[in-house]
Parts: sequence; structure tokens; C-alpha cells
Amino acid sequence: MNDAICFDQQVVIITGAGGGLGRAHALLFAKHGARVVVNDLGGSSHGEGANTSAADLVVAEIRAAGGVAVANHDSVTDGGKIVQNALDSFGRVDVLVNNAGILRDKSFHKMEDADWDLVYKVHVEGAYKVTRAAWAHMREQNFGRVIFTASTSGIYGNFGQSNYGMAKLGLYGLTRTLALEGRKNNILVNAIAPTGGTRMTEGLIPPQVFEQLKPELISPLVVYLASAACSETAGLFEVGGGWIGKVRWERSLGAGFDPRAGFSAEDVAAHWQQICDFEGAVHPQDNMAAMREMMVNLQKFAS
Ligand SMILES: NC(=O)c1ccc[n+]([C@@H]2O[C@H](COP(=O)([O-])OP(=O)(O)OC[C@H]3O[C@@H](n4cnc5c(N)ncnc54)[C@H](O)[C@@H]3O)[C@@H](O)[C@H]2O)c1
Repeated sequence: MNDAICFDQQVVIITGAGGGLGRAHALLFAKHGARVVVNDLGGSSHGEGANTSAADLVVAEIRAAGGVAVANHDSVTDGGKIVQNALDSFGRVDVLVNNAGILRDKSFHKMEDADWDLVYKVHVEGAYKVTRAAWAHMREQNFGRVIFTASTSGIYGNFGQSNYGMAKLGLYGLTRTLALEGRKNNILVNAIAPTGGTRMTEGLIPPQVFEQLKPELISPLVVYLASAACSETAGLFEVGGGWIGKVRWERSLGAGFDPRAGFSAEDVAAHWQQICDFEGAVHPQDNMAAMREMMVNLQKFAS
């Protein structure tokens, strides 16, 4: 039997927790003893309108089950207000789950600036604003857990989701650097790429599969990543339908050319197979490790 994960006295902010995956996260965190800030602007999945009832209903549900929660109705683009609400209500913030999101799907040749900008604003700027406001408090208390919600549409690409894919993989770039900067203050930062049956995916996933992809099947990973017991940081996890896997970068050993003599496009073409050959591939964990093969090549032709 595993040790129980408990968030007693800890405060968790979940953005976009008025429905879908965020609601499931909020309910599970509350069950594990966390004091939860249920944030949700309550708009449509295209980012239009606002409504206080989404967050309020989830708070009522948590309280009815004996948990502790408050509602917050600000947009993530006003991240400072959400963090201030957590401080005013509970005096601290330990965990932040950046989950709020919208869609503005369009093939790229039909993409309008407004679709591009709004998706960027909610996913990237919103996550930045809330995280930036929480970061100072996490540093001060030498503890923090931040989870970003990425997407397989960012990792692998998806037709009609250039704006969304850009935003979602951007969040993983943010994850990698914040993991480095947060480590010395025990702030661990990870990203998930979930698949769940929510209003966002309704109609896109066949109904029988949709039914099985319950949002609650994402939340145990999020709760684990947020726990004091977890030492994982900079990770990216695909999760859904009761399955969890870790994603990492893989790079070929590549081909080296003499940097002093120079080389041509034809040389690149002649070595293309070697450049793309993943036999013996490496999995760099950081920038230094990523530069290794390049440095070896410089040394090889140095004298
Ligand atoms: N469902 C999936 O399969 C899937 C796949 C990949 C990624 N995601 C991501 O998971 C997250 C949750 O999505 P979901 O499927 O539960 O969809 P959802 O639409 O049910 O939930 C998103 C929530 O975010 C809220 N929100 C939107 N804009 C906001 C803003 N500016 N401020 C505060 N709240 C705001 C919405 O009101 C909504 O309740 C999103 O970031 C989404 O991009 C979902």
C-alpha cells in the first residue's frame, strides 16, 4: 500500500476548474485535503462570455462533500487577482494547476489575427500571469508545484490547430526553463498532455470512446505531480483513458563536417540518411548535454 498523499494546510489554485478536466482536478485535490481555489471565467469554449455559476457549482460540490474551496471568477489574463484571492482566502499558495483553455480551430490559411491572439492570450499569457504572481510566494516559502496543461496537438501537430499547437508546446518550453529556475527553491514544474471527454472534445471523439475518456482519469497524475512526495520536474506526460506515459526529446547522433573547410548543401544531401538515423540516438536532458556532439565535432577538426 502506498503512503497516502495529503495536502493538509496546503492551498491549490486550479484555473478553468468550473468544468471538464479542471473540475475533476479540483474535486480530487479537495478529497486529498487541499484548500482549493476554483477559478473559472465561465465563458464558452471559444472564449466568449463569462458566467460565475461554473466555478460556484464546483465549490458547492466540494463543500457538500466536506471539502474546503472558494470560487474565483477572474480571467487567467488577470493572474495577479487569482493569486491574491488565494492569499486573501487562505494565506498562501502551494500548488498551481494551469488548466484554463479555449479553442479557435481553423486551418492556417483561414486563421485570423483574433483567433491566433486569443488562443495565445488565454493559454500562454494567462498561464504566465498566474504563474508569475504565484512564483514569488513559492520562492519565499521554498515550496511550490506548478503543472501546465500542454497537448498532443502541440507535441505532434493537429490539422486546424496551428494557434492551439503553438500555445500548448510553448507551455512546455516554459515548463523546461521554470523547472531549472525553480529547483533550488523546491519548486517543481511539469506539464501534462491530456486526452479527456469534455465539452472541448465533444463531437471530435467518437461517442463510445468519449464516454470512456473520463476527466477523472487525468487527475490522479496531476495530484501526484503536485504532491510533496514527487521529485519529478521538467517532465511531460501524456495521460488519458487510464493510461500515463512520459515523453522525452530524442536526437540522432547526426553527421559532422569540417567547420574550417566548410561544406555544401550537396554534402548535407549526401549525409541526409546519417543525419536522420536514430540508431544510438541520445536523449539530452539540458542545453549542455544537447551541445555535446557539436563540441565533439569542433574538437575533432581543431588541430
Ligand atoms: N479535453 C482534452 O482532450 C484536452 C486535450 C489536450 C489539452 N486539453 C487542455 O486541458 C485544459 C482543460 O480543457 P477541458 O477539456 O477540460 O475543456 P473545458 O472547456 O471543459 O475547460 C476549460 C475551462 O477553462 C475555462 N476558461 C477558459 N478561458 C478562461 C480564462 N480566460 N480564465 C479562466 N478560465 C477560463 C472555461 O470556462 C472552462 O471551464 C485546457 O487547457 C485544454 O486546452 C484538453
